[in-house]
Amino acid sequence: MLKPLIAGNWKMNTAIHQGVELVMRLRELIKGVDAVEVVVAPPFTSIHHLSHLVADSPIKLCGQNLHWEKNGAYTGETSAEMLVSAGCRYVIVGHSERRQYFKESDEVVNKKVVAALKGGLRPIICVGETLSEREQGKTLTKVRSQVKKALAGLAGSVVKDITVAYEPIWAIGTGKNATAQEAEEVHNAMRNYLFEMFGPDDVKDLRIIYGGSVKADNIDDLMAQPNVDGALVGGASLKAEDFARIVKFQRLT
Ligand code: 13P
Repeated sequence: MLKPLIAGNWKMNTAIHQGVELVMRLRELIKGVDAVEVVVAPPFTSIHHLSHLVADSPIKLCGQNLHWEKNGAYTGETSAEMLVSAGCRYVIVGHSERRQYFKESDEVVNKKVVAALKGGLRPIICVGETLSEREQGKTLTKVRSQVKKALAGLAGSVVKDITVAYEPIWAIGTGKNATAQEAEEVHNAMRNYLFEMFGPDDVKDLRIIYGGSVKADNIDDLMAQPNVDGALVGGASLKAEDFARIVKFQRLT
């Protein structure tokens, strides 16, 4: 069984002092946890500051985005190397909010995935369908296409450093999570598709995590599914108690 990954995406929330408070509290609440990989993705402005606080804790830091170039005239952008130097080990790529509001295409997502891996970061690649795509029965076609394009051209040997996050867009920030069975169905199909793309050996260490209204009261059911290897948590990751409860999910199987 893969070590579960529970990641908190803080999005555009928390000034530095709030991030510090959140991490200090979380550190206490999850002291000693080592069966789960715990990741938080604060805004860029807080990352370096928090790197000192997580140094002797199970918490690892994650960027919310990156640019595919190493440096240059790209005002407002941040490279993989910069994130690593600030203390990040992970980076979120292709979140639906970036695809929707910042027009990130599948090709851009692919360039970012390649840049992250080259720069020493483990990408958490987000995919997911809209409500109308789900209603039209297009969920699996959509996520397969996003996975295929995001991972295009990658050598099988780097796939172990990738996490795929299934985040149905209709479930993000809406309080309407996919049921554990709905998540499992998509994760299972995605895992089979990745096997076809790369072969079981390269894919055996790749985690597929679920995101979209994950809360303390639905995490246990989600984590009981054989193909759900963790969670990407938005709103509930901003409250240390809630996030800690999610990290300490109960195994139902
Ligand atoms: P919520 O948990 O607030 O629905 O957000 C999910 C998400 O977008 C995580 O990346």
